[in-house]
Amino acid sequence: MCLTIPVQVQRVIGKKALVKRGEEEFVVDITLLPEVRDRDWLLVISGLALKKIEEKDAQEILEFLRYSFITDPQRVSERFTSIIQKSKTQPLTQDEIVYLLNTEGYEKEALLAEGNMTRMVNIKDFICIHGVIEFSNYCSNDCLYCGLHKGNKDLVRYRMTKEEIIEEVIAAVENKGYKLLVLQSGEDEFYTPDLLAEIVQEIKSRVRVFLFLSVGERGEEFYAKLRSAGASGILLRFETANQSLFAKLHPNGKSLAKRFEHLSFLQKMGYFIATGFLVGLPGQTIEDIANDILTITSLKPEMVSIGPFIPSDKTPLAPCQPPNLDLVLKVIAIIRLLHKRARIPVSTALETLDPKEGRRRALQSGANALMFILTPQKYRALYSLYPNRYQAKGEPWEKYGLFKYEKSYDMLEERLSQEIG
Ligand code: 5AD
Repeated sequence: MCLTIPVQVQRVIGKKALVKRGEEEFVVDITLLPEVRDRDWLLVISGLALKKIEEKDAQEILEFLRYSFITDPQRVSERFTSIIQKSKTQPLTQDEIVYLLNTEGYEKEALLAEGNMTRMVNIKDFICIHGVIEFSNYCSNDCLYCGLHKGNKDLVRYRMTKEEIIEEVIAAVENKGYKLLVLQSGEDEFYTPDLLAEIVQEIKSRVRVFLFLSVGERGEEFYAKLRSAGASGILLRFETANQSLFAKLHPNGKSLAKRFEHLSFLQKMGYFIATGFLVGLPGQTIEDIANDILTITSLKPEMVSIGPFIPSDKTPLAPCQPPNLDLVLKVIAIIRLLHKRARIPVSTALETLDPKEGRRRALQSGANALMFILTPQKYRALYSLYPNRYQAKGEPWEKYGLFKYEKSYDMLEERLSQEIG
């Protein structure tokens, strides 16, 4: 579900309250929260107050979603200004994207701030909160960067049973209020189309949740079956749009063409598409990254999932270096400039790259969603795509971004459909 900037109550007037957000004052409906008093902090979506929030948590969220920077035209080049202007209405060329990726110092900060501002203007501070359950670390692939690759014989492998998966999903929805969950695994044929379809169907018959699958290249029939079973979205990164780099990183006959074929039929099946790439892969150039961004522009996925490459031991790329956080932030900002309403989650890999500042800085560069790992504790460390995976501190995001009252869910759904419709 989504979280938005907290507001402070100035005055309660019956079933309404006058609230303040920054310098802006407006009236909200407090029907759902009759106990609200003056000076309380509230979370409001579409004029409807959904939840009271403690002041210290409100301050943390305000800090994370702060935007105050306005580009000083004296301190950036004319080229920078004209590229940013152009991005407001048109796509950018590879050269222009490369220019933005190479910015440093003040221009870099200005780029990130433009990404933040574009998020603000177009999605009004909605930060969406999703969960991921990693149900199997078996994988039949040998991707050079990935700690789960099948050649890693030192890794203890696990598979969650059908019952375990269903139970985890139901707990995440009923106890925590998650509304969108990703079921992820290595490419693991143990989960036949029938088995996964049964899992999806049973979940959908028991709780209201959007289910995304992130299970690799399983072919058209598999995905058609899962779509009918009730899966809503697919998370499948193309990893890099450079064909020869893709081939080097993915031995065993994987091809970029087959990956794009998947994305194309998945889109036609009506799935919500989440795709993206890795930033900082060994051998990847700045021009490659610009092409990856252009590929996003041509695919137009609903969700753009990008993250830094993090060297993983027990892989051939273990001695390589991860990219600089700034490069990843620049990629986020450029994607936000070009895809104003796309959902851009802060990846766990980015949080791993900079556990202290990664999340805040990604949001302040244009990201607008968080992804929390909900895999049962006993399996979590075994899902070792790369080492020291960030253990998300859910609060206050999880505490306030998710709400489990059906009544507020229904009211909200109604309002949002009125707004969109
Ligand atoms: N660093 C960062 N991300 C990785 N992934 C796999 N290995 C790594 C790594 N070493 C990502 C891939 C894949 C997703 C499930 O995990 O992009 O699509």
